[in-house]
Amino acid sequence: MHQVTLLPGDGIGPEVTAAARAIVDACGVAVAWDVQRAGLAAQDAGLPPLGPAVFDSIGRTGLALKGPTGTPFGTPYRIEVAAHRAKPVAEPRVYPSVAIALRKEFDLYINVRPVRSLPGVAARYRDVDLIIFRENSEDLYLGRERMVDADTAEAVKTITRGATERAARFACETMQRQGRKKLAIGHKSNVLKLTDGLFLNSARAIAEQYPQIETRDRVIDALCMELVLAPERYDCLLLANLYGDIVSDLCAGLVGGLGMAPGANIGEKYAIFEAVHGTAPDIAGRDIANPVAMLLSATALLRHVGEFGAAGRIERALFDVLERRDRLTPDLGGSGGTRAMTQAIIDALGAD
Ligand code: NAI
Repeated sequence: MHQVTLLPGDGIGPEVTAAARAIVDACGVAVAWDVQRAGLAAQDAGLPPLGPAVFDSIGRTGLALKGPTGTPFGTPYRIEVAAHRAKPVAEPRVYPSVAIALRKEFDLYINVRPVRSLPGVAARYRDVDLIIFRENSEDLYLGRERMVDADTAEAVKTITRGATERAARFACETMQRQGRKKLAIGHKSNVLKLTDGLFLNSARAIAEQYPQIETRDRVIDALCMELVLAPERYDCLLLANLYGDIVSDLCAGLVGGLGMAPGANIGEKYAIFEAVHGTAPDIAGRDIANPVAMLLSATALLRHVGEFGAAGRIERALFDVLERRDRLTPDLGGSGGTRAMTQAIIDALGAD
C-alpha cells in the first residue's frame, strides 16, 4: 500500500486531482490517499494556506500529488512556514507562493517537465518529445523583492554553483538512464553576465563529465524562437527557475496546451507531482478542465514508486481514449467534461 498525500488545491485543482485519483484507484494499485487542504481553499476554511498538517502528511508519506494553488496577482501575499519535521530550523521562513514554499521546504531541487506529442491530440506539432529540467530552488523565485521608494521596485536574482550543479547532474543522470543524447542549456549570459554566466559555466562543467551527451548553449530568447519553429530538434533543456517556468508553458502550447503538460518536483527524500498549469479560474467549477496533465503527473508518481505496470496501463488507456476521441474535454476539441473523460479512461482501463 502506497501512502500518498493528496492536495486538491484551488480552482480546477479539486476536479483534476479527483480525476487522477479515480483513475489510479481504478487501475488496481493500492494507494492510501491522505487528503490535505492547501492554498486559497485552506484559507477559505479558516486554515493557514500552508499549515502544519500538510507538512506532517508529506513528512510522513514522502510523496504528494498536488493540484494547483492560487496566488493573488500583484498584491502582497506571503506564505510563512514554521519549523516542522522535514525542516526543523528555528526561524520561520517566508515564500511568495504555496508551490514555491513546498519546493523549498522539502528541498525539491529539480522540476522535471516532459513535453510529448500525444496520439489523437490536434496540436501544432506531432513529433515533440523533450524534457525540461528546471532548477527549482533559487533564481528570482526566492521572492527577495523590495520597494526602494514609492516608484521603484527591485528583485534579487540568486544563482549558486551548488544548486546549478545539482540540477545539471540530475538532468544528465536522467538523460543517461533514458538514452537521451542532446542537452541545451538556456541562459542570458550576454546580459546577466554574473548570474546567468555562473549558471551556464557550472552547468556546462557538469555536462562535460557525460561525454555521450552532446551539450550546447542557447540564449533564452533565441531558444524560444527555435522551439516555436522546430521543437523536434530539441531533446532536453536545462533552465534556471524563471526561464524554466516560462518555457514550460511555451512548450505545453506546442503539444496541445496546458491541459497536456505534467510535472514532478524531485528531491533526495521527498517528491511532489503536479501539472504545469495553474488554477485556471476562468474554467474552474465547470467540469471542463482537461485532466490529462494531472493524470500524467500521477503516472510519473506511480513510476517513482516502482509501479511501472500500473503507470503503463493507465497511459495505454489514456492514449486509447485520445485516439478514439472518446468523451474528450473542449480544449481537445471534444464535447465531454472532466468527469466524462475520466470515465472514458476508466472504461478503457477495464477493456485493457
Ligand atoms: P493557468 O495555468 O491557471 O491558466 C492559463 C490558461 O490555461 C487559462 O485559460 C486556463 O483556462 C487554461 N488551462 C490551464 N489548465 C487547464 C486545463 N487543465 N484544462 C484546460 N485549460 C486549462 O494560469 P494563470 O491564469 O496564469 O494562473 C491562475 C492561478 O494559478 C494563479 O493564482 C497562479 O499563481 C496559479 N498557479 C499555480 C501553479 C501551481 O500551483 N503550481 C502554477 C501556475 C499558476
